[in-house]
Amino acid sequence: MVDGLDQIVAAETVLSEVDGRAGRLIIRGYPVEVLAARFSTEQATALLLDGFFDTVPATAQIGAARAEVYEHLIDAAPRLAQLELYDGVRAGVALLDDGQSLDDALRLVAAPAALTPMLLRLRRGLDPVPPDPSLGQAADLLRMLHGRAADPAQVRALDAYLVTVCDHGLNASTFASRVVASTRAGLTSAVLAGLSALKGPLHGGAPGPVIEMLDAIAADGDARSWLAARLRQGERLMGFGHRIYRVRDPRADALKAALRVLGQSPAASERLAFAEQVERTALELLREAKPDRPLHTNVEFYTALLLEAVGFPPEAFTCLFAAGRTAGWIAHAREQLATGRLIRPQSRYVGPQADLAA
Ligand code: ACO
Repeated sequence: MVDGLDQIVAAETVLSEVDGRAGRLIIRGYPVEVLAARFSTEQATALLLDGFFDTVPATAQIGAARAEVYEHLIDAAPRLAQLELYDGVRAGVALLDDGQSLDDALRLVAAPAALTPMLLRLRRGLDPVPPDPSLGQAADLLRMLHGRAADPAQVRALDAYLVTVCDHGLNASTFASRVVASTRAGLTSAVLAGLSALKGPLHGGAPGPVIEMLDAIAADGDARSWLAARLRQGERLMGFGHRIYRVRDPRADALKAALRVLGQSPAASERLAFAEQVERTALELLREAKPDRPLHTNVEFYTALLLEAVGFPPEAFTCLFAAGRTAGWIAHAREQLATGRLIRPQSRYVGPQADLAA
């Protein structure tokens, strides 16, 4: 038995390759930092879905899908807004058709982007802002959140984030999506599996706790003693460590580059400098505490700073991760359907045997 399926190859994919020793992520032939710098969310979605449907989606189709999802879910939204934000987004996705068409796929790609600002505003007692289908997903997300046209630098940063997280090999949520797709359930089911796996703090749920950690350290005033105390108590430092990467996660640098493009206000520059200092201290302490386990900064550390800088509250962070990753889940689900068998590993029974003679 291999605990955590470490090193087990469970699928062949044309979608992405994670090289944990070189610290390299290739998505359909492009290094992630190139993709983040040059592609929009719509272009990255088209790249991922290319070959898995009869046609490649055009940018305008994703805008139209966002408007369709909004119309479809606006009546249910007040009830969805009573749930925790992530659970509300997941419940909204569950209300979409469970088909296999490109239209089904694009509604799913659009859904977290339509639902997150809609539910956030309702939770704050504000009216939701309907989508503008002519805009790109990143620009419209920010417009629907803030209720006004977004700052172009913020749009570029959010776009870079959504592209950076669009796919990442056979991570837990993508594997969950592929398992469900292998049963021939629909794309909504596969995406719901991905959404559920992403929620946990060891996967996509880490960036909210990163902000809590930074705020607690800022309040305490002594990063070294705060972090050392957490490690002594056996806690994990959020935003550090990875199952595959043994060097720095390349996505952390792609996001740091996107953060720098933001045209920082003095307050934001100060926040970034503070975070960098916390990062340096955390890496030193992790080296001392776990000399045999290379632990480096992962994608979630700078995700937290970037999403905070463009105005999202921590409760929205995992929803935005899902907004970026849904295209990847769908591409993997379609690939599994086209090339794979039912995924059905085995377990070894270690429980009791009933004494039938007694
Ligand atoms: N802080 C402190 N110690 C850590 C950390 C950390 N962030 N990460 C791993 N370790 C330690 C473990 O305690 C363990 O020590 P031990 O051998 O003395 O018990 C050792 O390193 C190995 O840990 P594993 O659990 O085997 O590592 P695994 O590959 O399963 O975990 C994970 C990877 C879940 C990401 C882990 O590093 C972690 O919990 N990090 C913090 C949460 C986080 O940042 N999650 C986001 C990940 S990125 C993503 O999913 C998009």
